[in-house]
Amino acid sequence: MTEEVDTGRRHFLTVATVATGAVGAAFAAIPFLASWKPSARAKAMGAPVEVDISKLEPGAMVKVEWRGKAIFIVHRTPQMLAQLEGIDGDLRDPGSNESDQPAFAKTTARALKPEYLVLVGVCTHLGCAPLDKFTPGDPTVSAGWQGGFFCPCHGSKFDMSGRVFKDVPAPTNLPVPPYRYLSDTRILIGAEAGNA
Ligand code: FES
Repeated sequence: MTEEVDTGRRHFLTVATVATGAVGAAFAAIPFLASWKPSARAKAMGAPVEVDISKLEPGAMVKVEWRGKAIFIVHRTPQMLAQLEGIDGDLRDPGSNESDQPAFAKTTARALKPEYLVLVGVCTHLGCAPLDKFTPGDPTVSAGWQGGFFCPCHGSKFDMSGRVFKDVPAPTNLPVPPYRYLSDTRILIGAEAGNA
């Protein structure tokens, strides 16, 4: 099982880490990571995976594993959500009509709660792992990059909802797994889709 906390350039936790010191941050991270770990039995059976998002800072992403696949959970900022607007013409399937996803994801936000994006982190081209390239204008992606996800294998680009841009190899949007909220801060990945 691979679990890691990604610290993107917008990761506000970085600021907090600098303020509190590296030692304190290391101890603080231990219970957080432990709370994401499903039991060995649940993992073996491909059972739903419960994720505590209470400490996921705005602008940060966490990866968990469900049924052998990476699941990306991003706490989107208002700026990230604003990036989703006005780009339909640049996207191959802005309405997610051909996507692998629950019915609730057929919206621009593609999520039960707009601020929390939950995606299967597997490129729909040939299965590579997309990178989080949240920062608009990131020169390692392309000029005019508006932020989102970038697959380095063959250059596919996805927006902050995992919607694929035109003129890249990936044919469809990144899938949204079934999930539901157990509480405001706990998500059950792999459960039958429920209400926010
Ligand atoms: S596998 Fe992602 S672009 Fe080819």
